[in-house]
Amino acid sequence: MASPFLQKVRKYEETYEKNIKKEERPDFHLSPRVGWMNDPNGFSFYNGQYHLFYQYYPYDCHWGLMHWGHAVSSDLLHWTYLPAALAPDEAYDKDGCFSGSAITLPDGRHLLMYTGVAKELLADGSIQEVQRQCIATGDGINYEKYAKNPVLTEADLPEGSSRYDFRDPKIWQGKDGTYYAVIGSRPADGSGQTLLFESADGFEWRFHDILCSNRGRYGKMWECPDFFELDGKQLLFVSPQDMLPQGFEYHNGNGTVCIIGSYDEENKRFIEERNQAIDYGIDFYAPQTLLTADGRRIMIGWLQNWDSCLPSTVHAPWFGQMSLPRELSVKDGRLFQKPIRELEALRRNEVRYMDVTFTDVLQLSGISGRKIDMELNIRPVDGNQVYQKFAVRFAQDATHHTAVSFRPHESLLKIDRKFSGSRRAFIHQRRSLVRHRNGRIRLRLILDRFSAELFVNDGEQVLSVSIQTHPDAEGISFFCDGLVNMDIVKYDLG
Ligand code: FRU
Repeated sequence: MASPFLQKVRKYEETYEKNIKKEERPDFHLSPRVGWMNDPNGFSFYNGQYHLFYQYYPYDCHWGLMHWGHAVSSDLLHWTYLPAALAPDEAYDKDGCFSGSAITLPDGRHLLMYTGVAKELLADGSIQEVQRQCIATGDGINYEKYAKNPVLTEADLPEGSSRYDFRDPKIWQGKDGTYYAVIGSRPADGSGQTLLFESADGFEWRFHDILCSNRGRYGKMWECPDFFELDGKQLLFVSPQDMLPQGFEYHNGNGTVCIIGSYDEENKRFIEERNQAIDYGIDFYAPQTLLTADGRRIMIGWLQNWDSCLPSTVHAPWFGQMSLPRELSVKDGRLFQKPIRELEALRRNEVRYMDVTFTDVLQLSGISGRKIDMELNIRPVDGNQVYQKFAVRFAQDATHHTAVSFRPHESLLKIDRKFSGSRRAFIHQRRSLVRHRNGRIRLRLILDRFSAELFVNDGEQVLSVSIQTHPDAEGISFFCDGLVNMDIVKYDLG
């Protein structure tokens, strides 16, 4: 039986989702049923469908008391809302059901592991949020919280770790049947660490070891870890808070880091080899992955960043959306990401221009739209005279546009949403170092009304950004300082 708290939220979302018209949302990116969304949670395949839960505050378009929203899909692109799955209705999670993950139990139940937050008044008069790990099990619609919650508390932490920063369990089952979870934590040095826990049944957990320590290298607290094997390598994803910039790799604020290494299964030791940003754009955070039945590692992230969440930019009563699901691979020691192949089934109305040479400004008939998949193959006309700058503008009308520009002589690619209609002073531009061969570069741009995701060189890098521009601004134009030659293939999506 759903608690009165959960019944209230279920009634609310059913009533107020009607205030959002279909055209006021993204089409194939999941947005909240109503109100606010942050991290993807419980991303899993259960009973023949993909399930995606999310950090959810239905009552307003800003972060608040966290619930878990819920949606299902068969292709990871078309989502159907289900009733909210978790509400903060117990003493141990009264101040929020924070992020977590899901797995299927041998008896067929769906198990959710999440962080329960409960504020405590301390002796010095301050209030702190104590974070503990909790379990709920269910049938894919209704979930019951475990009677013995919380299953991991401050008593399970290694010495010196904070009871106020212990969150975001990502659970999986090892080959030997044992369940494992990586959880974010703050050690005594004030930065971050990823802890490894194990369990024989998914309910009784014990601390195994510190899997990876930040030691102040990438930001402070590490949120939302994920840990998995891919193409013979072991990957650890973390979302650090409070980062300092490092060249063009990492930027200030909340970022995403992929550490590539190897795993000594026997001793459960992670050996780091190299690291990189997961997304080089402005809006991407807290990604979570799943393994599909056909062996693909799919990642989905929150297409926002904490530093640019201002509700005053909202048109309809929702805020926050998920990224496109992306297929991951490791090549030459780097993480590659491609839009999931299911997206190709949404392609309509192909428009193709091959071998187009131009300078200055170019507009092409049939090249426009806000729900598109567009591939650009760009090259200099004369290898001895490489163009200075190439740019593509989109979501364009007389006063608006968002732009991607590339300067081959500096190897810099920039995404710029300064003219996207934002009236706020947060970050609107970001630059990234990219690889190219003497001005030859491949770009694939996916637009879905309120977002742009740019895949560079077949997924070697991705830059994601959310935009608030009115969907009527559908124009696309090209710009070149110098002479460039390009192929364009563009599809409408949906
Ligand atoms: C990351 C995060 C998580 C936490 C959740 C709260 O964006 O801060 O660490 O569980 O959001 O909504």
